[in-house]
Amino acid sequence: MPDVVEFRREGAIAVITVNHPPVNALNNAMRKGLVEALDRARNDNDIKGVVIAAAGRTFIAGADITEFNQPPVSPTTIDVIEAIDAMPKPVVAALHGTPLGGGLEVALGCHFRVAAPGTRLGLPEIKLGLMPGAGGTQRLPRLIGMDKAMAMILTGEQITADQARDSGLVDQIVSDDLVSSAVAFANRVVAENRPLIRARDRDDKLADLRANPAKFDELAAPYAKRARGLHAPAKALEALRWTLDVPVAEALIRERDAFIELKNGAQSKAQRHIFFAEREAAKVSDLPKDVKPVDVKRAAVIGAGTMGGGIAMCFANAGIPVTVVETGADALKRGLDLVAKNYQASAKRGGMSAEDVETRIGLIHGTIDIGEIADTDMVIEAVFEDIGVKREVFGKLDSTVKPGAVLATNTSYLDVNEIAHFTKRPQSLLGMHFFSPANVMRLLEIVRGADTDPQALATAIGIARKIGKVPVVVGVCHGFVGNRILRVRSTEAERLLLEGALPQDVDGALTAFGFPLGPFGVTDLAGLDISWRMRKAQGARAEIADQLCEMGRFGQKTGKGFYLYEAGSRTPKPDPEVEALIVATSQRLGIPRRALSRDEITERLLFPMINEGARILEEGIAQRAGDIDVIWVYGYGFPAWRGGLMYYADQVGLPYIRDRLTEFAKQAGDPKHEPAPLLKRLAAEGRGFGSLGKDN
Ligand code: 3HC
Repeated sequence: MPDVVEFRREGAIAVITVNHPPVNALNNAMRKGLVEALDRARNDNDIKGVVIAAAGRTFIAGADITEFNQPPVSPTTIDVIEAIDAMPKPVVAALHGTPLGGGLEVALGCHFRVAAPGTRLGLPEIKLGLMPGAGGTQRLPRLIGMDKAMAMILTGEQITADQARDSGLVDQIVSDDLVSSAVAFANRVVAENRPLIRARDRDDKLADLRANPAKFDELAAPYAKRARGLHAPAKALEALRWTLDVPVAEALIRERDAFIELKNGAQSKAQRHIFFAEREAAKVSDLPKDVKPVDVKRAAVIGAGTMGGGIAMCFANAGIPVTVVETGADALKRGLDLVAKNYQASAKRGGMSAEDVETRIGLIHGTIDIGEIADTDMVIEAVFEDIGVKREVFGKLDSTVKPGAVLATNTSYLDVNEIAHFTKRPQSLLGMHFFSPANVMRLLEIVRGADTDPQALATAIGIARKIGKVPVVVGVCHGFVGNRILRVRSTEAERLLLEGALPQDVDGALTAFGFPLGPFGVTDLAGLDISWRMRKAQGARAEIADQLCEMGRFGQKTGKGFYLYEAGSRTPKPDPEVEALIVATSQRLGIPRRALSRDEITERLLFPMINEGARILEEGIAQRAGDIDVIWVYGYGFPAWRGGLMYYADQVGLPYIRDRLTEFAKQAGDPKHEPAPLLKRLAAEGRGFGSLGKDN
């Protein structure tokens, strides 16, 4: 038997323990070991019951995703569950950590489940463009009812041990030693001669729905609506429906086939790429292995504006006390009131208990005395985007905060190396670029300065993960990775308006591509005045946007921007006044207007962005193409099922993109569109961005 599965006896109970760190992903060796161990338990007459448990930090957290690009190897997860099904003795799953995906499906195949407190259970396949493929869609609804099962399978979110017990997914929560408790549980089942009812044979939780199948469509409707072009949710709903009208044995076969179809499809491949790219992005190749991050026991945020408040919430949400520093009592009160209001809104929506709200607000302390933060381990500056203001703040921090503390700036485009030298300890300084709203958006660009030392960098990465962010380490340049590429898109979007498109055409092309909002919809939401102020500071101009600002059209907040918004509505309406302005501007500038197809608009927006991504890679500002993908998926709404900007480029094919960029450069007379040397080289070599780092 392979080492990944251990078999031992505790009296009449066989304890089968899987051991494949770090998360016990169910791989070929483990499946083989499990089937062998289960056979052994079945054939041994002295064994009366079985416990399946896991060593390390978690019960099986799912099938091993690294095996998904290869053909399935027997025994499959389904074979493991069939071995449990065939067992005439009770099988108890002992759950801890995060039993997820195929791991939870193995547990669903067991007759009983006990869990340690704090266990979180889920079927997250949907996040990988998949659906459960080892019985989850058939067994879970039979155990906990269709509405709860549908929520778990269609959102992929985890539930707590308490929720699992209350819904019938878990039989008992055990606070003593998990495995001993599971063994005791199995002994009790044997002693009481309890019937062994398999989840697949149960029907009580589906009886109501069977009597009223139209209810299924009602439950499914909101999920189907949200699915927008995604294959997995539609398939998962179809499979859930089989619980009502297809015999379970047949439904299990169909489920497996549907899973394989999704696994081999482009959407899931792209989402799996993002899964691994996200984990890779937090790794820095030259960071010494033995570097010890600072243990951040207390943090501080300078500035109680929207950004500062949001960042403070991130720390409080993770249970870390945080001090918010402002210069005046009124601004401080306004900021803290907004934080409280945000928390109360979450509680109202049902996302948080009143007790949680109180605990979190209790972790945020406000002050106007910077001296109070002398002892903090990490300070994040989130003040006005002005280099003079930053100089003043960091000068004060330098003389206040203890040595060794990490000093971070939340600037979105200023020079982190310059800011570092506002202190006498540039080695402790880096950028931590949060995205707005900071308490919601998961992306965090960690900007490594020329002098940033490994300890500061490791601390920032560690804390980012602790507060639930997706950290990506980037280098210093104007706008870093995300905003630098965004700027290219904004310039192109304006050009398209002048050449013949209207805002709704440009936005329509990108929403059809899969973005939740197009560039002009985003600008209207964020406010046109922000980028206007920035352009003015840099002596730059955007023909259409600047004129709209001059007319007081700042976006949703003024009811008018690139679109018109009726009072109280966030729905953009095309505005004839804007159309007239755009047409007049094209005329004034002597640019002939022509019809632009949706495909042309998409290419004109995305290909120059890819080109900029190639330059960013050449300059070493991003370590890998996957980092750019993660930034655009988590920070800018690039559809995850397309795998991110650079992954998408590889799917389109670099030679085509190179040729189109060359044409754009000619048409626009803009040398910036000339394909970047890296793009040209890879295209010539028949390679993609994803191959970089492997032989360069
Ligand atoms: N397969 C392969 N590797 C996995 C994995 C999996 N299912 N889950 C995690 N890993 C790897 C990660 O890539 C990472 O590797 P690295 O250290 O080399 O970067 C390592 O395990 C640790 O993972 P995290 O850094 O994510 O650790 P966390 O503690 O932050 O999170 C977790 C743990 C919650 C388990 C998280 O890793 C996770 O969500 N994993 C994916 C779970 C999942 O999607 N399961 C379903 C798979 S599909 C399936 O089961 C199909 C079935 O229906 C047939």
